[in-house]
Amino acid sequence: MISLLDTRLAQLKRTDEVVHTITPSELNAGEWWAETGRDWPGHLSSGLIEPRKGYRFRPENLALSVILDGVECERLVDLGTGSGALLLIADAFLEPSIGLGLELQSDAVERLGRTLEAHQRGHLRAEQGDLREDKSLRTLVSTLGGKADVVVMNPPFFPSGWGRASSLESVHRSTHALHGDVFAFLEAAKAIVSDEGMIFVVFDATRMASLFAAAGKVVLEPDRIVMIPNRHQAARADEPYRVWVRFRQGSMLRSL
Ligand SMILES: C[S@@+](CC[C@H](N)C(=O)[O-])C[C@H]1O[C@@H](n2cnc3c(N)ncnc32)[C@H](O)[C@@H]1O
Repeated sequence: MISLLDTRLAQLKRTDEVVHTITPSELNAGEWWAETGRDWPGHLSSGLIEPRKGYRFRPENLALSVILDGVECERLVDLGTGSGALLLIADAFLEPSIGLGLELQSDAVERLGRTLEAHQRGHLRAEQGDLREDKSLRTLVSTLGGKADVVVMNPPFFPSGWGRASSLESVHRSTHALHGDVFAFLEAAKAIVSDEGMIFVVFDATRMASLFAAAGKVVLEPDRIVMIPNRHQAARADEPYRVWVRFRQGSMLRSL
């Protein structure tokens, strides 16, 4: 059945954009969600606006819903929010009073503004800014009215210059650390999260060493992990392809 939200999204998307539905079936046929016996939030199934050609929704984003289980949050931030997939998923499961998505690429910020308008979620906002700049982080904290309880992120996995770059500049800027690597993302998160707050990071399983090295450097400790198995036929059975990790403030002594 077509809902009012579906109609608004269809009206607000442009000809070079698509509406991408956010449903459990996109990740490993949805079996992981069926096991929970819970209903999937209906408005997520209506989805978000994203570019027809460009960085698109990734199925591992869905597993954020699992690692967020039992977490309480008033103030939410999504660093490098892109089309806002993590912002929308975290909002649906945490029901914060305010949620901000920070993004460098202004066309993505404008697009997310239209997705949020369609969803009529007045407590969510897309902000343009660079997470490496103190000014952007100060503005976030002041708009939130205090430090964040939860920060979510999907930082670019690949070092600048690694592998073959996408011919689309917007994709290259999303997959490769051209404007800050995982360390820059975690450093920004550390600056805006409260003492009791939590940081949720999705990362490539084969690059975990760089994630943990960066976390150690900014004194964050992992305390929860969700591994996402790679069900691709060519993959080895013991090879998770993406990993969600929850970090909390650490202590220098325990990081030694
Ligand atoms: C891997 S994409 C993830 C997009 C989205 N969060 C998702 O999960 O679909 C990384 C995002 O971080 C943004 N980004 C990279 N460097 C940034 C910076 N210095 N400040 C703010 N955003 C940045 C990119 O533009 C891109 O949208």
